[in-house]
This record gives sequence, structure tokens and C-alpha cells, in this order.
Amino acid sequence: MMKKKIIWSLWAVSTTALLGYLSMGLFANEKKDLFLPGPVMHGHHQVEMQCSTCHTDPFGGGEVLQDACTSCHAKELKTALDSHPKTKFTDPRNADRLELIDARFCVACHLEHQPELMHPMGVSEPEDFCVHCHQDIGEERESHVGLEMTTCGNSGCHNFHDNKALYEEFLLDHKDEPDLLPTALLPTTDQIEVKIKTINDQSIPNQFELSDPDHKKWLASDHAQAGMQCQHCHGEVANWSSQPEIEVCADCHKDETDTFGLGMHGFPWKQGLGLAKVSDSFLPMHSDAVHKEVDCQSCHGSHDYDIQQAAVESCLGCHDDTHSNNFKASKHFQLFEAELNKEVQVGSGVTCATCHMPRMKIENEFGQEKLIVNHNQSDVLQPNEKMIRPVCMNCHGLGFSINALADEKLIKNNFQGAPSVHVESIDWAVARDK
Ligand code: HEC
Ligand code: HEC
Ligand code: HEC
Ligand code: HEC
Ligand code: HEC
Ligand code: HEC
Ligand code: HEC
Ligand code: HEC
Ligand code: HEC
Ligand code: HEC
Repeated sequence: MMKKKIIWSLWAVSTTALLGYLSMGLFANEKKDLFLPGPVMHGHHQVEMQCSTCHTDPFGGGEVLQDACTSCHAKELKTALDSHPKTKFTDPRNADRLELIDARFCVACHLEHQPELMHPMGVSEPEDFCVHCHQDIGEERESHVGLEMTTCGNSGCHNFHDNKALYEEFLLDHKDEPDLLPTALLPTTDQIEVKIKTINDQSIPNQFELSDPDHKKWLASDHAQAGMQCQHCHGEVANWSSQPEIEVCADCHKDETDTFGLGMHGFPWKQGLGLAKVSDSFLPMHSDAVHKEVDCQSCHGSHDYDIQQAAVESCLGCHDDTHSNNFKASKHFQLFEAELNKEVQVGSGVTCATCHMPRMKIENEFGQEKLIVNHNQSDVLQPNEKMIRPVCMNCHGLGFSINALADEKLIKNNFQGAPSVHVESIDWAVARDK
């Protein structure tokens, strides 16, 4: 009995010491890498060294981590109409399904620091894990008999979370659409709502004047046209700031700034870690862009605010991968050029931003919907079926869009040519409906 007590107190002391040691790693500013058990997933690499982003309490276990995950991801999963929300698993009828994977917790499938388990999109379960809960479908549903369990989630048929464009009913509603819709146009965003303050001091000291070409760009900009003055961004002359920061733009452009802070362009800034650096990137970038960082000016320039320039040329000033570099040979880019030359209707062209920063409906704090340019360029990236409804279906039918996005060759060559892959889900849904 006595012996047991000693062992217990020894255990308690050593555990506290170990926890203390680890928490030092989590919260001390130096030598955090010493305590890092292994790298985090790609989407989190920008905050890897900011341990407290996830370990908000060093002594906290599952629930604490869970709260961290949901504090950043709950909204996005809700708008994705998550097919497997926690409520599905707290339902007692599904209790038996939790024996192997406790799907109430995010870390059941998204462990960190274990690169040897890591699959795309930060999934740490093996590819066939759907089998644990859905083996019956593979055995009972005629169309699914004999399919490999590895194909449920990565062949353009289903996702674990976001099935907005893949539900059986949705497939049936859009079953007979042509490859290209009769009206292939992007929607226009709602009016930007901003208030412009009056400026008391109108003079600009010589040393702050813009050079001739820059002044011309400024005069042509929507800002000058809307009656803005230099001081709206630079501050009054006595406190002139020569490099206005993101917060200045945020004052008038809340929606764009809020969404910017959610994706990999703006996430480090939002987390107080400074601007995202090209030199820290895992993606291929131009060598002469290594010194660059991402803020509003990276795409909009400091005085012209030309959104066409922002939508293609600016991106190609940093990004240098095969997919990006193939874009200018695509029909989509030809359409954009035709739009700039006023040969086709406004909204006919497709740019990098059309797909990666789609014009999407958001809900403001009063629950009203409005259409804005989504500045979170990670939002519809993965799984790429997320692009189908807000982007492709403005112009293409559902079947064509599913096939095109399941075709890796088309992604590489930036959508030059017809899809060579055929995803059978619409056919199966139609057969079952009959
Ligand atoms: C993006 C979120 C995130 C960040 C950032 C993060 N961690 Fe973790 N960490 C996790 C998750 C998730 C687990 C897994 C918990 C589990 O196994 O249930 C974990 C587990 C751990 C563990 C337990 C090790 C194990 O193998 O069980 C340690 C120690 C740890 N982290 C240290 C750190 C340190 C030190 C840093 C900063 C240098 C850090 N973490 C940054 C999410 C994160
Ligand atoms: C401070 C905010 C924040 C916290 C906390 C956080 N994430 Fe993330 N997460 C992000 C951002 C930003 C991205 C990258 C952009 C994206 O993919 O939406 C991301 C990406 C992801 C991805 C896609 C990964 C990839 O490599 O493509 C998964 C999965 C994920 N997070 C799960 C989790 C889980 C599980 C937790 C809790 C352990 C967590 N996140 C905690 C902000 C956060
Ligand atoms: C039973 C496994 C499982 C659980 C539990 C789980 N996920 Fe996922 N998650 C996946 C899979 C698989 C993917 C890959 C894309 C897909 O199939 O939807 C994914 C992808 C993601 C992504 C990136 C793609 C996207 O749709 O945005 C995020 C972010 C994410 N999960 C966050 C979370 C969070 C937060 C939780 C907890 C509330 C969670 N996941 C719980 C399996 C799981
Ligand atoms: C831990 C158990 C579990 C795992 C693992 C799991 N599911 Fe499910 N899934 C459920 C439950 C529970 C339901 C709801 C009841 C039902 O339809 O069987 C469901 C429903 C679904 C639905 C119907 C969604 C809807 O809203 O109508 C789809 C599609 C689906 N799962 C796909 C998948 C795919 C793909 C995977 C693997 C990537 C997967 N599931 C992994 C438990 C699981
Ligand atoms: C919409 C906000 C905005 C307005 C209005 C604005 N500027 Fe700027 N300006 C900026 C930003 C942002 C930078 C910093 C650019 C950088 O960091 O590369 C800048 C930089 C400058 C610079 C530094 C050199 C340069 O060209 O990059 C000068 C000089 C300048 N502005 C003068 C002016 C004058 C004069 C006006 C009025 C005619 C004006 N600005 C109006 C945002 C603005
Ligand atoms: C004092 C308010 C105010 C500030 C500060 C401000 N803007 Fe604007 N912005 C406006 C107004 C007004 C418009 C024009 C709206 C319209 O035409 O409907 C506009 C339009 C824009 C446009 C769209 C241009 C187009 O061609 O459609 C962009 C891009 C933009 N602003 C970026 C920025 C950036 C980046 C900053 C920070 C450097 C900034 N703005 C600071 C008020 C502001
Ligand atoms: C990665 C490039 C990029 C960055 C960074 C960026 N923007 Fe944009 N922004 C664009 C593009 C491209 C468009 C036009 C998209 C379109 O026409 O569909 C745009 C459009 C806008 C508009 C006009 C919206 C409308 O409804 O017409 C405003 C305002 C704006 N951006 C403000 C900002 C602010 C503020 C920041 C910094 C927080 C910022 N942008 C950062 C690329 C960028
Ligand atoms: C100043 C340089 C710069 C410019 C300009 C720029 N980007 Fe990026 N982009 C980055 C960096 C840095 C990352 C983060 C990569 C990482 O951390 O691995 C990134 C990431 C991305 C990602 C991947 C996001 C993810 O979740 O994995 C996409 C997609 C992307 N950018 C598209 C664009 C588009 C479209 C434009 C133009 C409208 C653009 N970028 C303009 C630097 C830039
Ligand atoms: C018609 C839509 C479309 C257009 C136009 C488009 N992309 Fe993409 N982009 C995609 C899809 C789809 C993916 C792949 C997402 C996935 O499955 O991982 C992707 C992936 C990316 C990635 C991530 C690459 C990686 O390895 O993670 C970057 C960066 C990117 N695109 C930048 C750009 C730039 C820059 C342009 C313009 C020069 C552009 N894209 C034009 C649809 C598009
Ligand atoms: C603004 C409308 C618009 C949007 C949005 C759009 N496209 Fe297109 N796309 C077109 C037009 C128009 C063509 C040219 C059709 C033709 O000439 O036959 C085209 C051509 C294509 C082609 C080449 C077809 C061929 O035979 O050469 C593919 C593949 C494609 N689009 C896929 C996509 C995907 C995937 C998305 C969503 C990520 C998308 N598109 C978004 C309008 C659009």
C-alpha cells in the first residue's frame, strides 16, 4: 500500500515536471523548435512556431485543442454544410460507429506533428477509412459493389465535410446541363459601402508629391474619382505616414480585409506574426520575388488600384508553378483579354481571381447577404469541388465541372482542352432515381 503511494507521488512529480518542461517549450520564446515533436500540416506551417495558436493552455488536452480548431474552422464547416458534424456522432444511434474513430474530435483524423501519417489536406487517417462506418454501402448498393474503399473520398464523388455540389439531389437537379451554359457570365459584386471623412488640411508638402506617371494613375483610380484625398490613407500632413498599413484599408474595406485574414495570404498578418513572406512559402515562386511580402499593395499597387492588373499580372509576379504559368494559353485568358478589349460582355472573362478569389455571398453581422470578392484564396482551393458552385457553375454545367476538376492533367495545363475523366456519380444517381 505504502509502496503504491510512493509510486503515485513519484508519477505525479515527474508528470508535472514533464508538463512544465513541455509548456516551457510551448510558451517560452526561445528554442521552441527543440520541443516541436514534428512538423505541422501544410495549411498551418505559417504558425508552426506559434505553439499557443493551438495549445492555448499547455496543460489542456482534447477539449482545449478541439476549441482551438473550432474557433478558426467552425464557420467554414458550417457554410460547407458539413456532412459529418459533431451532432451526428453525439446521437446515441451512431455510438457504435465511434469505436474505431472518435469522429466527435477533429484530431481523430487531423493529428499534428506526425508527417509519417500525413495525407493531403492534413488527414492523418489512411485513405480507406470511410470503410469503418460505410462498409454496408459498398456491399449493398448495386452501383457501389466492388468499388475500392480508397475511392469514396478522392475520385470526385464524395467528401467528408463539403458535399454541397455532390449531394444526390443536387446531382439530379442539374443532370442534363450542357458543358457551357447559354449565359456564361460572372455576377457583379454589390456596391462597396464606405464613408469618406472630410479632410481639414488640404496642402501636400513637396517631398510627398507623387511623380508624374503615378499621379496620372492616382487621378484615374476609383479612389480619386470617389473624392478621396491623399490624407485619407497617409494621415494629415503633421503625422504623414509614408507607408499606410493594412489597417488603413480595413477602415473602409472591412469585408475584403476580414476574408484576407483567413487564407494563407493574410493569415500570419491576422495572427500578429507579420506579413506572409514569399521566402517562407512551400510553393514555387519567382526568384526575383523572394524579398516580397503579401499585403493589399502586393496586388493592388499603391495608387492605381486596377483590379484587372490585380487579377492576373500581380499573381504571376510571385507564383511560378506549371499550373499558373499555363494560364495565359487557356481559353479562359483569351476571354479575359476579349473583355478588356470590349469585344465581349463584362463578366465573360476568367482570371486567376475568378477561381481563387471568387465573388461570393457572405452574411454580415445582421444576417444580410451581400456579394463580395472573397479575399481568402484558400477557401475554395481544397478539396477542389468547392469551386464548382461559386465559380464554374456560373458558366458550365455540373457534369462538365465535376469532370474537369477531377482531371489532374487539366489542372496542370490550366484547363486547356476537354476533360478526359468521367465521374459516374450523375449517371448512378439517375439510374437509382428510375
Ligand atoms: C496548428 C496547431 C498546432 C500547433 C501550431 C502546434 N501544435 Fe502541438 N499538437 C497539436 C495537435 C493537434 C496535437 C495532437 C494532440 C493529440 O495527439 O491528441 C499536438 C501535440 C503536441 C504534443 C504532444 C506530442 C505527442 O506526440 O503526443 C507536444 C509536445 C506538442 N504538440 C508541442 C508543440 C510545440 C512545442 C509547438 C510549437 C513549437 C506546437 N506543438 C505547435 C497542434 C498544434
Ligand atoms: C488560428 C486559426 C487556426 C487554428 C487554431 C486551427 N487552424 Fe486549421 N487552418 C487554419 C488556416 C488559416 C488554414 C489554411 C487555409 C485553409 O486551408 O483554409 C488551415 C488549414 C487546415 C486544414 C487543411 C490543411 C491543409 O494542409 O491543406 C485542416 C485539415 C485544418 N486546418 C484542421 C485544423 C484542426 C484539426 C485544428 C485544431 C487542432 C486547427 N485546424 C486549428 C487556421 C487555423
Ligand atoms: C473522421 C475523420 C475526420 C474528422 C473527425 C474531421 N475531419 Fe476534417 N477532413 C477529413 C477529410 C477526409 C478531409 C479531406 C477533404 C474531405 O474529404 O472533406 C478533411 C478536410 C478538412 C479541412 C480542409 C478541407 C475543407 O473542407 O475545408 C479542414 C479545414 C478540416 N478538415 C477541418 C476539420 C475540423 C475543424 C474538424 C473538427 C471539427 C474536422 N476536420 C474533423 C476528415 C475528418
Ligand atoms: C466515424 C464514422 C464515419 C466515418 C469514418 C465516415 N462517415 Fe460518412 N456518415 C457517418 C454517419 C453517422 C452518417 C449519417 C448516417 C448515414 O447516412 O449513415 C454519414 C453520412 C455520410 C454521407 C451522407 C451525407 C448526407 O448528409 O446525406 C456521405 C456522402 C458520407 N457519409 C460519406 C463519407 C465518406 C466519403 C467518408 C470517408 C472520407 C465517410 N463518410 C466517413 C459516419 C461516418
Ligand atoms: C488608398 C490609399 C492611398 C491614397 C489615397 C494615397 N496613397 Fe500614397 N501610398 C499608399 C500606400 C499603401 C503606399 C505605400 C506603398 C508601399 O509600401 O509600397 C503609398 C506610398 C506613397 C508614397 C511613397 C512613394 C511611392 O510612390 O510608393 C508617396 C510619395 C505617396 N504615397 C504620396 C501620395 C499622394 C501625394 C497622394 C494623393 C495624391 C497619395 N499618396 C494618396 C496609399 C495611398
Ligand atoms: C476613406 C475610405 C477608403 C480608404 C481608407 C480606402 N479605400 Fe479603397 N475605396 C474607397 C471607395 C470610396 C472606393 C470606390 C467605391 C466605388 O467606386 O463603388 C474604393 C475602391 C477600392 C477598390 C476597387 C477599385 C475598382 O476599380 O473597383 C480597391 C481595390 C480598393 N478600394 C482598395 C483599397 C486599398 C488597398 C486601400 C488601402 C491602401 C484602400 N482601398 C483604402 C474608399 C476607401
Ligand atoms: C492576391 C491579390 C490581392 C490581395 C492581396 C488583395 N486584393 Fe483586393 N482584389 C484583388 C482582385 C483580383 C480583385 C478583383 C476581383 C474581381 O474583380 O472579381 C480585388 C478587389 C478588391 C476590392 C473591390 C471589391 C468589389 O466588390 O468590387 C476591394 C475594395 C479590395 N480588393 C480591397 C483589398 C484590401 C483592403 C486588401 C488588403 C486587406 C486587398 N484587397 C488585398 C486582389 C487582391
Ligand atoms: C507578393 C507575392 C504574392 C502575390 C502577388 C500573390 N501570391 Fe498567392 N501566395 C503567396 C504566398 C507567400 C503564399 C503562401 C504559400 C505558402 O505559405 O506555402 C501564397 C499562396 C497562394 C495559394 C495557395 C493557398 C493555400 O491555401 O495553399 C493560392 C491558390 C494563391 N496564393 C493564389 C494567388 C492568386 C490567385 C494571386 C493573384 C490574385 C496571388 N496568389 C498573388 C504570395 C503571393
Ligand atoms: C478555372 C479555374 C482556375 C484558374 C483560372 C486558375 N486556377 Fe489555380 N487552381 C485551380 C484548381 C482547381 C487548383 C487545384 C486545387 C487542388 O485540387 O489542389 C489550383 C491550384 C492553384 C495553386 C496551388 C498549387 C499547389 O500546388 O498547391 C496556385 C498557387 C494557383 N492555383 C494559382 C493560380 C494562378 C496564379 C492563376 C492565374 C495565373 C490560376 N491559379 C488560375 C483553378 C484555377
Ligand atoms: C465566366 C465564365 C466561366 C467560368 C466562371 C469558368 N469557365 Fe471554363 N470556360 C468558359 C468558356 C466561355 C470557355 C470556352 C468554351 C469554348 O470555347 O468551347 C471555357 C472553357 C473551359 C475549358 C476548356 C474546354 C475546351 O474544350 O477547351 C475547361 C476545361 C473549363 N472551361 C473548365 C472550367 C472549370 C473547371 C471552371 C471552374 C473552376 C471554369 N471553367 C470556370 C467560361 C467559364
